[in-house]
Amino acid sequence: MQSQQTPSVLFVCLGNICRSPTAEGVFRDKAEKSGVSVRIDSAGTGGYHIGAPPDKRSQQVARSRGYDLSLIKCRKVAESDFEEFDYIVAMDHQNVSDLKRKCPEELHHKISLFLSHCESEFEEVPDPYYAGLKGFELVLDLIEEASDGLLLKLAS
Ligand code: 4NP
Repeated sequence: MQSQQTPSVLFVCLGNICRSPTAEGVFRDKAEKSGVSVRIDSAGTGGYHIGAPPDKRSQQVARSRGYDLSLIKCRKVAESDFEEFDYIVAMDHQNVSDLKRKCPEELHHKISLFLSHCESEFEEVPDPYYAGLKGFELVLDLIEEASDGLLLKLAS
């Protein structure tokens, strides 16, 4: 059921070690700094890295901009997430279709693309796993921009 007070956001990518934990850390920092109360978590559609901390490159790039991802642990999307979270925010189109396959149809409206919450020339936050550090910097740029957009929506 949709919560009456504190909204909840689940960020989702494939591995839950690069993009969605970065989104979790950035969004938490921005929400705290702007005084918006929101429950935040992240998860992956795949289960390759369960229990692992975020990728070292994600942590490094995030740390360089003041975000600490070190306490986040990878988990897989659970059936209960579709009931528990108000907003299920995916990084790319593949994440959206993987989520929609698992999610009861009446809850599909909760699923959105992260970059649909801001004005961006990109539609997706691209998978940086096989990219260099520049790919991780781009991911962080996009996540910061989309976090500002989503936070504005939650605050209004
Ligand atoms: P993420 O990146 O979905 O942003 O966490 C990936 C991490 C790991 C893998 C793929 C994407 N992998 O294939 O292990």
